[in-house]
Amino acid sequence: MRVAVLASGHGSNLEALLEACAAPRCPARVVLVVSNRPDAGALERAAARGVPAATIARDGQDADRLLALLAEHGVDLVVLAGYVKRVPGRVVAAYRGRMLNVHPALLPAFGGPGMYGRRVHEAVLASGVRVSGASVHLVDEQYDHGAVVAQWPVPVRPDDTADTLAARVLAVEHRLLPAVVLAFAAGGTALAAAPSAAARRPDGPQPHSLDDVLLPTAKEPT
Ligand code: GRF
Repeated sequence: MRVAVLASGHGSNLEALLEACAAPRCPARVVLVVSNRPDAGALERAAARGVPAATIARDGQDADRLLALLAEHGVDLVVLAGYVKRVPGRVVAAYRGRMLNVHPALLPAFGGPGMYGRRVHEAVLASGVRVSGASVHLVDEQYDHGAVVAQWPVPVRPDDTADTLAARVLAVEHRLLPAVVLAFAAGGTALAAAPSAAARRPDGPQPHSLDDVLLPTAKEPT
């Protein structure tokens, strides 16, 4: 499965995905990295691994260019990894059910417009909840709104700051996002109907308890 990654920042999730895809017989390959920021660390990480990279307008709203890039590279699955701009509606429509986002909280809580980066963890701490975590969800026309595919909890510690919590959540993102992408790649469009089979492929990478993180909605045929 040919994967494009859209990233606005450091690209540590991109790196985790590239690392996972470097494993023997990996069913997914990152064929394109796109950023709306020419200074994004993600672009350097792509270059270091020889992955084609491109920039788009800073506001991310050039649908024609984005669609052309995705078509040119034969992209099957789009992954938003630390991408902070809204994806144009025509691109969402073209990749409906084939576009994933990773979010550093347990959606639907602590998501939506303006809820990204440090602000997410500050809101979590301010709320007093004892558990945060990471979510991977399908992208639709609204920020952080599409069906949740996988989640993993991270306990909030009494002495947590936004930075310490962000670091522990990010470490989970680095495992959860590749696990979901590899399961998509192994299961293809049938993943939603058969996540267990995808997760248990004996010759493929073995996600850590993927069955436990795929939610019931993702396990039912659509
Ligand atoms: C991650 O928590 C991601 O979910 C968020 O930005 C953070 C940094 O991501 N949107 P990365 O290092 O750029 O992958």
